[in-house]
Amino acid sequence: MRIVHCALDLRAAVDAARAAGDSIAFVPTMGNLHAGHHSLLHRAREHAGFVVASVFVNPTQFGPNEDFARYPRTPEADAAGLAAQGCDLLFLPGVDEIYPLGAEAAVRVHVPGVTESLEGAIRPGHFDGVATVVAKLFNLVRPDVAVFGQKDYQQLLVIRRMVRDLAFPLEILAAPIVREANGLAMSSRNQYLDAATRDRAGAIHATLLAMQAAIHAGTMQRDQIEAMACAQLEQAGFLPDYAVLRRADDLSEPVGDERAGLVALIAARSGRTRLIDNLLIR
Ligand code: PAF
Repeated sequence: MRIVHCALDLRAAVDAARAAGDSIAFVPTMGNLHAGHHSLLHRAREHAGFVVASVFVNPTQFGPNEDFARYPRTPEADAAGLAAQGCDLLFLPGVDEIYPLGAEAAVRVHVPGVTESLEGAIRPGHFDGVATVVAKLFNLVRPDVAVFGQKDYQQLLVIRRMVRDLAFPLEILAAPIVREANGLAMSSRNQYLDAATRDRAGAIHATLLAMQAAIHAGTMQRDQIEAMACAQLEQAGFLPDYAVLRRADDLSEPVGDERAGLVALIAARSGRTRLIDNLLIR
């Protein structure tokens, strides 16, 4: 696996792969890679001969009181893991490469609608930062496909909407959530949790499954299911920011007794750590 730090070297490597007849798959990440990220790479590999990953902790998607400074940075381990997973090229840019005039002065991409609720309401500006950096990375890498985890469900919808509206010439693929044995969705932020909290955090997935079961049973109203989910999270020692059922295609609120095409989404805090998870209701 080759590692490049600047746009010029990235472009040359991608152009050479394309000239050799390969299609290009791209997996953008913020590093501190775990099995969840590795599954994104496997999905990328299924769709292209040449797999590019990026590791960049993007300052513009963190709020002033969020964990940008303490976000885990493990570039050597990330590179070793990516090489072991068969990644062909790792793009490891510095902040200047992505934001030449500084992160504050950067042009922003704003996706309306789907960014306004849930994570967007709680983390103002977060999705502008995500859309901005992903647009920039797409223009640098120019992939045929890009892979995003379903774990960040709202982010996935934001990226799909941006790609459609700005006519980026690539396909977005979603990779399923990878879970620990107790159901906890894999996340770089899980390492902030002590062992006991990590055990208890299995309750988040259990709550999503309970929400799905309640939808299937058909005896509770949606607001009752959401209240039950919040209570279940609180019992497990988590402070829920939300536990909701939304339309899976745009996260709008279902009307009346709509029970098909839904997604259950949870954000819950334990101390300073905030975990998110979701489940597409089958
Ligand atoms: O999901 C992430 O890790 C980040 O939001 C992304 C897509 C790499 C943009 O910084």
